[in-house]
Amino acid sequence: MFAVQYLSHQCDYSDRKPSLNELIDILLKIVLLLVKLIMSNLAKDDWSAEDRVQRMVRRYPLSYHDLFWVTLQRLVGSKQKDVIADFGCGPGLLLVDLVKKYHAKYVYGFDESEAMLKQAARFLSETISDEQFTLQRINFDESQVMLESDAIDLAFAGHMFHEIADPGNLASQVFTALKQGGQFAILDYISGNPDGFIRKMVGSGMDEKHARARYPHMCKHSVDDLTEFLSNAGFSNIVFEKIDEASRAVVVGIKR
Ligand SMILES: C[S@@+](CC[C@H](N)C(=O)[O-])C[C@H]1O[C@@H](n2cnc3c(N)ncnc32)[C@H](O)[C@@H]1O
Repeated sequence: MFAVQYLSHQCDYSDRKPSLNELIDILLKIVLLLVKLIMSNLAKDDWSAEDRVQRMVRRYPLSYHDLFWVTLQRLVGSKQKDVIADFGCGPGLLLVDLVKKYHAKYVYGFDESEAMLKQAARFLSETISDEQFTLQRINFDESQVMLESDAIDLAFAGHMFHEIADPGNLASQVFTALKQGGQFAILDYISGNPDGFIRKMVGSGMDEKHARARYPHMCKHSVDDLTEFLSNAGFSNIVFEKIDEASRAVVVGIKR
C-alpha cells in the first residue's frame, strides 16, 4: 500500500494508460522499495521473549570479559562517575558492574523490551536501593529520551547501535544529556573482519551458518562510522580500540 501510494506520487498517469515499459518500470520500483524495506530491518532483533533475556544473561561474561573492562577503563579512565546511563541496557548486568566499578550514585537504564527491563530491575535491586535507579521503556526509533540536559557523567550503549534506525540522532540526544566533560562509550560489532566475527559468535554459542548470515547486519558499521556518529553529534577527543580479533570496538567521545 505504502509502495503504491509512494509510486503514484512519482508517476502521473492521470490522463493516459501507462505503456508496458512504464508498467515494468513501476513493478521494478515496487520490488526495489520492498527489498529496501526488508533490508533496513534485518539488523533489528526481537528481544521481548524471556528466553532471549536469559540467553543474554548467560552470554554476558563472554561479551563483557576482562579485556573489555581493561579497554573501557583505558579509554574512559577509572575516576568515579556519579550518574551513569545505559542505552539499550538489556538485562542490566552491565549497569550492575558499572555501579561497582565507577561507584555511581544513580543509574538510568533504557530499553524497548519490557522483559529485559524486568530482569534489570531484579539485578539492580540486589546491588543498589530502588531510589538509586530509573529504568525506562523506550523505543529509540520512535521517541526521544526523557532526560534533562547536563545530567549524566557516563553514557554507554552496548551492541545496540547496529539495531537502531538513526544512530546519529541517538548520539545527539546522549550529547545533550551528558554533563560537560561527560563521556559516551559505544561497544558494538564492527565491519572488516567477517572470520573474526564468525569465530566470536560461534564461541558464544551461535551456529556458523547463522553467524555468516548475521555478519552484514550486526557488523553494518565500521569504526569510522561509529566515530562519525559521535563527531557529528558534537563529541570531541574520540578514541577507540578494537577487541576480539577486531570483531568489536569500543569507541569513546567526550562532551567538551
Ligand atoms: C544485543 S542486546 C544488548 C543488550 C546489552 N546492551 C548488552 O550488551 O548485553 C540489544 C538491546 O537493545 C535493545 N534495543 C534494540 N533496539 C532498540 C530500540 N530501537 N530502542 C530501545 N532499545 C532497543 C534491545 O531490547 C536489547 O535489549
